[in-house]
Amino acid sequence: MAEAAEHRQGVGGSPRYDLIILGASGFTGKYVVRESLKFLALNTPSSPFKSIALAGRNPTRLADALRWAAHPDPLPHVALLAADVGDPASLRRMCAQTRLVLNCVGPFRLYGEPVVAACVDSGCDYLDICGEPEFMERMEAKYHQRALEKGSLVISACGFDSVPAELGLMFNSRQWTEPAVVNQVEAYLSLESERRIVGNFGTYQSAVLGVANVEKLQELRRSRPRRARPVIPGPAPSKGSIVEHQNKIGLWAVKLPSADSVVVRKTLSILTENPHGLPGANEDAGHIEKRKAFWSTIKPAHFGVKMGLKSLLGIFRLIIIGMFIGVLGRTAFGRWLLLKFPSVFSLGWFREKGPTEDEVECASFKMWFIGHGYSSRDAASQSNAKPDMEIITRVTGPEIGYLTTPIILLQCALILLSDRENLPKGGSYPPGIVFGPTDLQERLEKNGISFDVISKGAAHA
Ligand SMILES: NC(=O)c1ccc[n+]([C@@H]2O[C@H](COP(=O)([O-])OP(=O)(O)OC[C@H]3O[C@@H](n4cnc5c(N)ncnc54)[C@H](OP(=O)(O)O)[C@@H]3O)[C@@H](O)[C@H]2O)c1
Repeated sequence: MAEAAEHRQGVGGSPRYDLIILGASGFTGKYVVRESLKFLALNTPSSPFKSIALAGRNPTRLADALRWAAHPDPLPHVALLAADVGDPASLRRMCAQTRLVLNCVGPFRLYGEPVVAACVDSGCDYLDICGEPEFMERMEAKYHQRALEKGSLVISACGFDSVPAELGLMFNSRQWTEPAVVNQVEAYLSLESERRIVGNFGTYQSAVLGVANVEKLQELRRSRPRRARPVIPGPAPSKGSIVEHQNKIGLWAVKLPSADSVVVRKTLSILTENPHGLPGANEDAGHIEKRKAFWSTIKPAHFGVKMGLKSLLGIFRLIIIGMFIGVLGRTAFGRWLLLKFPSVFSLGWFREKGPTEDEVECASFKMWFIGHGYSSRDAASQSNAKPDMEIITRVTGPEIGYLTTPIILLQCALILLSDRENLPKGGSYPPGIVFGPTDLQERLEKNGISFDVISKGAAHA
């Protein structure tokens, strides 16, 4: 790793690498590398990626990941850097050489903090693919102020968790035009494949540790000032039944305890505090107008996410997995069992070695957004008013963890590198409030993730 020892900057004092992928040797990391190679300037001359580097603790695994990602093309010139999250000096050296770190090392609650700290200290930007609310909220509490001062943007959840939910809610919200007002949007996630749907151990481990630490998250929330709550027209919707059947989309559904609703709520509360969104570091008047116009079209709504399956049996399997993780995840022995036998306790949904390439290629997702609201503010203000309008939209794309997540992460990175002056100078934020007014949705559409309006009409009780 000659590159690692060289700790120096590129020509003219600008950072040597446009971006560095940390954890490139991981299961998700190698797919992120593959996606990034598509945009390297050699292949796409207009791309802001002129040079990238891969970082990790094991040079052989990094080289293997690069070879796998480049196949069948010859190996591109990509530097391999030594960086171990247990060695702060190696992280400082890494950050000093780049404008942007893409962090794929998880579980984030175990390994993420030193990376955020190093990025903030050096003033470079940080994006990750975390789906762990406790980590995101702890990083915001500890590093937001310093990130503001240092001009470092720290944005977690730039993968399937939680960009489709954030942009999908905004897309549904933008369909509600005056005088109609939205009250509630429920997202229904449906995973599809002709083969088995399988996730890698890293995601399963992150979920198990999330359950184990749920009390820490509640404690952290109690210690933090309350955020502003958006004012939503109409009464709060009732909780509804645990298991429901959605005729419109032909799915059975149960609540999904994912990070999405937490992240979306965060974006909506930041928007309540900043109704025109977050000012860019160095915006011109035209961009300020564009940003304000965008946010004026977004109306807050009560938001939740459910997992949708075609059969009721599938829902029961999901509930059983939730019970295994929920009960066993609370004790050390239970966690040992869950992590020792991932395939058994996830009923085959997670595997130590992850899905095969074929299984990844065959999978896809649909995320339906069913919005309910009122034809006017007057209708919403009646006591016991029932929603009289419904708008259904949908986000669809390829496999969630290893195709959609890298697509989203790379498009967020491309925006960050090409449009930095229009984004906030620094701070820790959810992705929606930063990337909402950018062209992220159009970019995702060009890369295989689509946003569609399915129906608009009267709501039926
Ligand atoms: N947002 C989403 O939708 C989404 C999608 C996919 C994954 N994820 C998340 O991404 C994370 C990674 O998942 P995965 O399945 O890719 O896990 P994985 O295959 O276990 O990869 C973990 C990576 O972290 C690296 N690492 C571990 N300890 C390290 C250390 N001390 N210093 C430097 N690097 C270290 C590993 O390096 P070695 O190769 O040297 O072991 C490997 O590159 C998980 O938290 C998962 O939940 C999120």
